[in-house]
Amino acid sequence: MKKNINSILILNGPNLNLLGQREQQYYGNNTIEDLEKQCQKKCDEYSIRMKFEQSNSESDLIKWIQDAKEEYDAIIINAAAYTHTSIAIRDALLFYDKTIIEVHLSNIMARENFRHKSFISDIAMGVICGIGTQGYIAAIEALAKNILPIKHQ
Ligand code: DQA
Repeated sequence: MKKNINSILILNGPNLNLLGQREQQYYGNNTIEDLEKQCQKKCDEYSIRMKFEQSNSESDLIKWIQDAKEEYDAIIINAAAYTHTSIAIRDALLFYDKTIIEVHLSNIMARENFRHKSFISDIAMGVICGIGTQGYIAAIEALAKNILPIKHQ
């Protein structure tokens, strides 16, 4: 089987550095380090080069997305609260213009109304939410197995 995805950038937005300490009913008890290890293990299984980043700053996230265009075949992004607010991150992802999967640990559709709006979902190949850290693993699997985008429009 031909593999199109050889490299993945995994981006995590604000407050995700507090995983395992913060609102465990939504985000579980894995730390960000645990999550990175799980992602690295899964990428290793498929010989995919992976970079895993977290920042509380919108500017860092935008810079990483801009630089990713040359370097990574896909982005998995949990933009955390910026998902619901940041047109700047959306614009950077539009510039990236390659495969994007949006993930959230919690089911954002089952939470407050302001979390129902995402500036990323309609430009992503897929959206996974509500299955905790398994969402990242599912996203890596989908990319590794060449699951093709379903045409939305
Ligand atoms: C989140 C959901 C967001 O609404 C929230 O602001 C987060 C985390 C999630 O992974 O469930 O910080 O992206």
